[in-house]
Amino acid sequence: TGTDTVNLAVIGGDGIGPEVVAEGLKVLEAATAGTGTKFHTTEYDLGARRWHATGETLPDSVLEELRGHDAILLGAIGDPTVPSGVLERGVLLPLRFALEQYVNLRPAKLFPGVQSPLAVERVAPDGIDFVVVREGTEGPYVGNGGALRTGTPHEIATEVSVNTRFGVERVVRDAFARAQGRPRQHLTLVHKHNVLTHAGHLWRRTVEEVGVEFPEVTTAYQHVDAATIFLATDPGRFDVIVTDNLFGDIITDIAAAIVGGIGLAASANINPERTAPSMFEPVHGSAPDIAGQAKADPTATILSVGMLLEHLGRSDEAARVERAVEADLASRGDAVRSTPEVGDAIASVL
Ligand code: NAI
Ligand code: MG
Repeated sequence: TGTDTVNLAVIGGDGIGPEVVAEGLKVLEAATAGTGTKFHTTEYDLGARRWHATGETLPDSVLEELRGHDAILLGAIGDPTVPSGVLERGVLLPLRFALEQYVNLRPAKLFPGVQSPLAVERVAPDGIDFVVVREGTEGPYVGNGGALRTGTPHEIATEVSVNTRFGVERVVRDAFARAQGRPRQHLTLVHKHNVLTHAGHLWRRTVEEVGVEFPEVTTAYQHVDAATIFLATDPGRFDVIVTDNLFGDIITDIAAAIVGGIGLAASANINPERTAPSMFEPVHGSAPDIAGQAKADPTATILSVGMLLEHLGRSDEAARVERAVEADLASRGDAVRSTPEVGDAIASVL
């Protein structure tokens, strides 16, 4: 729209969330200094503190305010003092659903100088560089289920996975388009269609049908259990992976582990049609075990800021952030640095 103000909503959240977000904002500032663009940030207090104080998770008024922003930067939500599921189901998932962030993008790239737990020279001599396109609004995460006779020997619990042709097709098409834009032009569908036949065959047929529109892109299929084997033994085979919400959640933790750990894993929840803001966040949670000690690695958040810049069409700045992270990673060694020290180091490269 030609505006030189970007309205950014910031949700620090719980635990280490605010600590890592502060470093993300520091790097955002450094990366965009002198470009004439102002990043106008508005902080939103969501998470455990708000829930304890008011009983609220995500008030409608806050959701509507968030909707008016150009993008959202999120730290993490979740705290041991709040019953499991209250904040996850009350804040995170409603945001992704209401803002139609159906593409949950999770890159896995092994940067030079980063130690992988794998013998990379042997299992991935050409490196590890793939991206998981995880469906963000359907699957078993929609809350379609219930419990009866809770706490009795006859308790019943259901958690129904919802897969719509519309929802599967839009994320599959996005994944194909991403694969087409990458050098290797390869797409792997990960599912379990030999057992989850109803949803699995919907995904399989959709990939076959949408694939016709992308003749340059080669495709492969793996059952999710086999995919976990190859993520450990042959991760170089992957380029773009498309998968459902639950499988994507699980395999992206493995993906993070093989490229240097959860402290480096970035993600984006994208609304490709831009009918609502997209949201950028580290893959990790609030890490209550290290919260308040300045021990958290802010790199995942900083790389998420890079994805935010890319989404806003600021590819040069996004590339500069990634290069600054790359330079810092290459020179890290074994030195123990605090959260702000890592942020300062990356910002100073910029
Ligand atoms: P977690 O990711 O918070 O922590 C797992 C382990 O990784 C911990 O040992 C932690 O110290 C370490 N870790 C995480 N981030 C790190 C970083 N940046 N630097 C260094 N070490 C790091 O996962 P956990 O413990 O399962 O969940 C804690 C809370 O976070 C829960 O309430 C959970 O629901 C929530 N959560 C929220 C997410 C979100 O906001 N998107 C995602 C995952 C979990
Ligand atoms: Mg997860």
